[in-house]
Amino acid sequence: MILDGTSPAAIDQAARTLRDGGLVAFPTETVYGLGADASSDAAVAGIFAAKGRPSDHPLIVHVAAGARGTEALAHFARPLPDFAQKLVRAFWPGPLTLIVERQPGVAAASAGGQDTIGLRCPAHPVAQALLAACAGLGVHGLSGPSANRFGRVSPTTAAHVQEEFGDELLVLDGGACEVGIESTIVDCSRGAPVLLRPGAITRNQIEAAGGEPLRSKEVLGAPDPRASGTLEAHYAPSAKVRLMDAKALQTGLDVLGANAANIAVWSRTVLSSRSQRIVQRRMPDDAAAAAQQLFAVLRDFDAQGVKLIWVEMPPADAAWEGVRDRLTRAAAA
Ligand code: TXA
Ligand code: MG
Repeated sequence: MILDGTSPAAIDQAARTLRDGGLVAFPTETVYGLGADASSDAAVAGIFAAKGRPSDHPLIVHVAAGARGTEALAHFARPLPDFAQKLVRAFWPGPLTLIVERQPGVAAASAGGQDTIGLRCPAHPVAQALLAACAGLGVHGLSGPSANRFGRVSPTTAAHVQEEFGDELLVLDGGACEVGIESTIVDCSRGAPVLLRPGAITRNQIEAAGGEPLRSKEVLGAPDPRASGTLEAHYAPSAKVRLMDAKALQTGLDVLGANAANIAVWSRTVLSSRSQRIVQRRMPDDAAAAAQQLFAVLRDFDAQGVKLIWVEMPPADAAWEGVRDRLTRAAAA
């Protein structure tokens, strides 16, 4: 059931559902999340079951902004290192998740049994209204993975969530997500910041605000936390994705000629095909605009029943790192 997320009655119903151990999907500025009370192991088990996700893959916990957020931080996390506090001040609420040391005894199921916890304070007004209403009912935070079945493309509209889980699930509609790819994840639990997943907030922004260079996981050598968003093959549509430069794309279309069919192309460069049966969409020249469209475009191509999705390789600069990462993973599936 899709409810208008701007309606106070809908927020109230959703918050009560969550307090009672149920699941509610909610919009964030990145993608839609599948929420449950982070402190209830039974409610969190419902997320793993619905997604078909292995229960040792940790979930992000979403917290409210302002004073409630400060309280929630103290509830879920051990005191933050200095650089993490700087990142909180610079980017919350916003599309940044921090992995920090977990307060012993809280949200164990949500953390997949690890002694760290992923925390994020989303900027979307509907998410914030829901988190505030939940806090008022004694729910400190919402575990919220992307609201898709395991391994599939993240949803950026309420309709996408319904495609994934059907009409039983309560979905708060907050419109199309503005960022379109999942939050940047920085691991702050290893003494120095480590980028686990690139997103809209770039490497350079994190280094500038945190006052420390990002280190690589390899350099720090600590065991890798399980992070499904960092699995090589992930975010996959049903059609096979291939990444190519514009020249290779055009050659491919030329070779197939008038007989080309069942292929969708997403490119910044304008390409020509002698076939009427090629589905072509323009990739924006701007990284943020491309990120906003990425998952919806992949879903749309799938819905048109194509077998192959050919994508022009995004530019190599830092602003495109998040989009390149998701496309590379989609192509690896
Ligand atoms: O933008 C987002 O982050 C969205 C929205 C809904 O907030 N959420 C999201 O959640 O992408 P999910 O579960 O699909 O991806 C979260 C990633 C996973 O790769 C998970 O393994 C990792 O964060 N993660 C969560 N807690 C962790 C922890 N304690 N240690 C290491 N990785 C963690
Ligand atoms: Mg996900």
